[in-house]
Amino acid sequence: MEGRVTTTEQATSVFLDAARGASTPRAPIWLMRQAGRYLPEYRALKERHSFWEMCRTPEIAAEVTVQPLRRFPLDAAIIFSDIMTPLPPMGVPVDFAPGPVIRAPVRTAEDVARLAVPPGDELAPFVGEAIRLVREQSPVPVIGFAGAPLTVAGYAVQGAGSADYAEFRSWLRREPLAAHALLDKLAAVTAAYLREQIAAGAGAVQLFDSWAGIHDRRVYATFGMPYARRVLDELADTGVPRIYLAVGASHLYPQIARLPAEVISVDWRQPLDVSRAALPGKALQGNLDPTVMLTDRETVLAAGRQVLRDGLGGAHIFNLGHGVLPGTPPDNVARLVDLVHEFPRATESA
Ligand code: CP3
Repeated sequence: MEGRVTTTEQATSVFLDAARGASTPRAPIWLMRQAGRYLPEYRALKERHSFWEMCRTPEIAAEVTVQPLRRFPLDAAIIFSDIMTPLPPMGVPVDFAPGPVIRAPVRTAEDVARLAVPPGDELAPFVGEAIRLVREQSPVPVIGFAGAPLTVAGYAVQGAGSADYAEFRSWLRREPLAAHALLDKLAAVTAAYLREQIAAGAGAVQLFDSWAGIHDRRVYATFGMPYARRVLDELADTGVPRIYLAVGASHLYPQIARLPAEVISVDWRQPLDVSRAALPGKALQGNLDPTVMLTDRETVLAAGRQVLRDGLGGAHIFNLGHGVLPGTPPDNVARLVDLVHEFPRATESA
């Protein structure tokens, strides 16, 4: 079946083994935002093309995806795109400055009713094409991704990124029916979009619920978890491991622990062994503080070793607790990848 793991490389991947829950002899490593502004070769391309042009041109998106793989022996590639990609085809134009800006935010029931729900194959065909091109250029598994409904709704309603999403959070309470209608459409689009990425060859998928942590438990139980669950459930028959990310969300772990995702990506706020106890049965991904990568080699190695030791109690995919920051020296990434590859998990104990 298309979308299943088919190549030998993917079948023997330490990344996919860990994502399926195996306690691998070494931890696989990839980094959120491993392609991006900290790499001079990315900035060179960005000088000539807008962000959307890069996403929507499969050859450029594939090139940016493999740029970090040429420098570092990473265990997975994340396809170059954005969590905003499905919004324009739904009828919500998005600009980047450099974060997403939505000049006509979704606010009323009529705004929601007007939103289109395009079928998966019409949504963003350039993403599937880019995944196919990356698979031709590299044997490492490609991670497909999308934003979770609650997080994408936050941008669509607030109109831009925000520290507290006050407009969005009050809107959820003022307009609960419109909110459910919006989340329902986003869940349908997101599931179809991820299935399309799997059909194109993505070996794993990550659902970014980057802003889940700003909500309290009841709001998340009403507007977040059920829609994330629906997206993840709709991918169950693909057999592809599902990674769920939430930031600043340890208060939500009792709910997140029950989501149908094999892997939970956790931030740096608490050590992996503490998060592991709250997320039984899950492979963990994370969780080095991205600001550590702005320091020197010795600090990176010491903090990286601590994360590796904290992760020994079960399946662990090494990553940062959130994305690579723009000022990160590429050399620090090189040192970190080597450290993770050389750190033996099988013979060490916590
Ligand atoms: O290497 C990768 O991780 C793959 C590409 C990727 C991008 N965005 C490219 C990008 C991924 C996985 C994303 C996901 C994304 N986009 C998230 C979820 C992850 C997270 O950070 O929580 C969110 C919230 C967005 C929305 C978004 N897009 C923001 C907040 C920004 C602003 C600046 C930034 O880099 O954080 C963007 C723009 C964006 N998306 C850039 C890149 C490389 C920067 C564009 C530039 O070069 O100016």
